[in-house]
Amino acid sequence: MQLITKQNIIQWLSYDEEHCSDLFLKAQNSKKQFTKNKVFLRGLIEYSNVCSKNCLYCGLRSHNKILQRYTLSEEDVLSAAEFAYQSKFGSIVIQAGENQSTKYTNTITNLIDKIQNIYNGQLAITLSLGEQSKETLTQWRNAGAKRYLLRIETSNQDLFYSIHPNDNNHSFSNRIKILEVLKELDYQVGTGVMIGLPNQTIDNLADDLLFMKNIDIDMIGMGPYIEHSDTPLYASKNTFSLKERYLLTLKMIASMRILMPDINIAATTALQTIEPNSREKAIAVGANIIMPNITPLKYREQYLLYENKVQQIVDDDYIENIKKCVQSADSEIGWNDFGNSLHYDKRVF
Ligand code: 5AD
Ligand code: SF4
Repeated sequence: MQLITKQNIIQWLSYDEEHCSDLFLKAQNSKKQFTKNKVFLRGLIEYSNVCSKNCLYCGLRSHNKILQRYTLSEEDVLSAAEFAYQSKFGSIVIQAGENQSTKYTNTITNLIDKIQNIYNGQLAITLSLGEQSKETLTQWRNAGAKRYLLRIETSNQDLFYSIHPNDNNHSFSNRIKILEVLKELDYQVGTGVMIGLPNQTIDNLADDLLFMKNIDIDMIGMGPYIEHSDTPLYASKNTFSLKERYLLTLKMIASMRILMPDINIAATTALQTIEPNSREKAIAVGANIIMPNITPLKYREQYLLYENKVQQIVDDDYIENIKKCVQSADSEIGWNDFGNSLHYDKRVF
């Protein structure tokens, strides 16, 4: 394969809308050639909005006192898992704010254990539960969790500290260390960045893509930054309009697909906040994962990382819609399939 330079990536990310078609086609061809050309569904369970961190952009930050906090019961989680299984999703994602208490980490271990037993290991579990100790991550891996998502948010350290408090609880190097630990523990490892942050440049975003390639990541979830009025970052000026962040995200997905053809890339909900048809578009330019939100409806309004988050009920109509959207992107759904990252399979076996 031809060597891709940072200059190439900067050029791709700088294309205006009319000049993106070659890039998008190239990404689509990479997906067809290097993946099973299927789209895999992961049922997303937003387990708890309690968070000990204080990220300057996120509605769940601990200093947001307006927000009512919740944690799902075991029964809620198991019935969501059952729904995912019956719907032939093949896998679930358990996502929450960060909580490192022993009681909490043991509760998660129990949940993983139960789900593994009920479905005989036939429902793959991805965790997205923030920064955790090596001991906790080992415990969860041993209980049967297969994948872990931990976004770096931006690979530029200065930019990282402009969107996080500069203290021990928000350490850039710690996050990188944990990504390494996850690999050591044989997780399929996912990361990602936000696109269109205040003071972010195309150069930063090109570095983000190269960072993810250099750490040899298996899965990626990246989406546009979207303001939340109850956060400090809301007041910051942004050079990118929402529309520009939307196109930039598509270009990031396409570029990443070309850079790492066999990884899993999610079409994130944040994109849909800007453009309702974005899911179809993201799939057509290289994404291969959709995460239908199966959190009980009564909690959805309390898991607002950003404003205007799209809330969809996962019913027959929704599934029909996804099927159509996947077909129109010249792909099909991988029912009952774990949807492993082929990159991970090659890396490990
Ligand atoms: N806009 C877009 N994405 C956000 N996230 C948190 N807040 C925002 C926001 N305002 C993303 C972060 C985090 C993930 C759970 O949600 O990337 O890792
Ligand atoms: Fe907590 Fe994650 Fe939001 Fe940061 S981005 S405040 S860690 S939920």
